[in-house]
Amino acid sequence: MSNTNPLLDVSGLTKHFPIKGGFPIKRTVGAVQAVDGLDFQVAEGESLGLVGESGCGKSTTGRLITRLLEPTGGKISYRGQDITHANRRQLAPIRSEIQMIFQDPYASLNPRQTVGKIIAGPMEINDINPPGGREARVRELLEIVGLNPEHFNRFPHEFSGGQRQRIGVARALALQPKLIVADEPVSALDVSIQAQVVNLLQKVQRELGIAFVFIAHDLAIVRHFSQRVAVMYLGKIVEIADREDLYDNPRHPYTRALLSAVPEATVEAEPRERIRLVGDVPSPINPPSGCRFRTRCWKATEKCATEAPPLVQADGNKPGHLTACHYPEVQETVPAPRLAKDPEAAA
Ligand SMILES: Nc1ncnc2c1ncn2[C@@H]1O[C@H](COP(=O)(O)OP(=O)(O)OP(=O)(O)O)[C@@H](O)[C@H]1O
Ligand code: SF4
Ligand SMILES: [Mg+2]
Repeated sequence: MSNTNPLLDVSGLTKHFPIKGGFPIKRTVGAVQAVDGLDFQVAEGESLGLVGESGCGKSTTGRLITRLLEPTGGKISYRGQDITHANRRQLAPIRSEIQMIFQDPYASLNPRQTVGKIIAGPMEINDINPPGGREARVRELLEIVGLNPEHFNRFPHEFSGGQRQRIGVARALALQPKLIVADEPVSALDVSIQAQVVNLLQKVQRELGIAFVFIAHDLAIVRHFSQRVAVMYLGKIVEIADREDLYDNPRHPYTRALLSAVPEATVEAEPRERIRLVGDVPSPINPPSGCRFRTRCWKATEKCATEAPPLVQADGNKPGHLTACHYPEVQETVPAPRLAKDPEAAA
């Protein structure tokens, strides 16, 4: 992507949630360092995947970008405009351009409203009257997301989980956004229908040219959806790269561990050595010094405990492939030996 004019430009983005304690007067006694200094850009029409284990700060990042949360520090620019601390009035003109799709299609739709009313909601709030009227636009949107346009008078409970998520997508599209933050949009759905919803989002991204920040736990889903992927660990981006570079040449030990758990896409691919991460993710209230991954990293040294590794282009990496590790992984030049065939199976 070109760095000259990103749609979204995030630098040093930080969110610390204060922890109150003490009696009788509550004071701030600490902070959850949910997001701690993120730098990334999203180009127009591009899809950036954001992956990492539970609690690493993905949703907080999504809520900061959409300004549902107030950042503690850093800067968010949208189309060149600083929106880091923009108030409601200042955000009004761009509210329609940045939309969010949530994980839970049950909780995010008002059960007492018809689908038509839900999808038209953003048009009402923003006082937008499309040519032909709101109802016509709702029907058009239902059609785009693969639902029957005649069903606009039905209620959410009359739809399946996958269909409800399509309603959420239609609502997000109502105002012709330029950026959609999709927070685990398929993880609450049956595996059998996840692919359908991902395909729909892919169609939306390609045909309508909408940029996405696609949040997911697992690298398998973003592989098909995102041209670029950022891997998060305990509030920080540990690696960011174009999809091919990240999957073919992971340099951060954590990325490698995550990838080793993803089933191979093709039969011909060399089997990856499975890396099992031991221990739990440390608390973001008191993260490890230096590299935050060091308590689970098999290569950690003294330096890792004292110096936080910067997110930089490691030796041999392509431009735009950044890794935060003092000792980046090196790709094996000798192919790994193929697993010996089970002699009994062959017999
Ligand atoms: N409003 C809040 N107040 C205090 N702590 C919070 C708040 N929201 C999130 N956190 C904490 O911030 C950290 C990051 O949370 P976040 O929801 O962003 O993670 P996540 O990567 O989206 O996780 P998951 O994969 O489980 O959705 C967690 O430790 C969480 O408990
Ligand atoms: S900096 Fe050290 S602890 Fe962190 S990932 Fe690299 S080798 Fe592991
Ligand atoms: Mg989340």
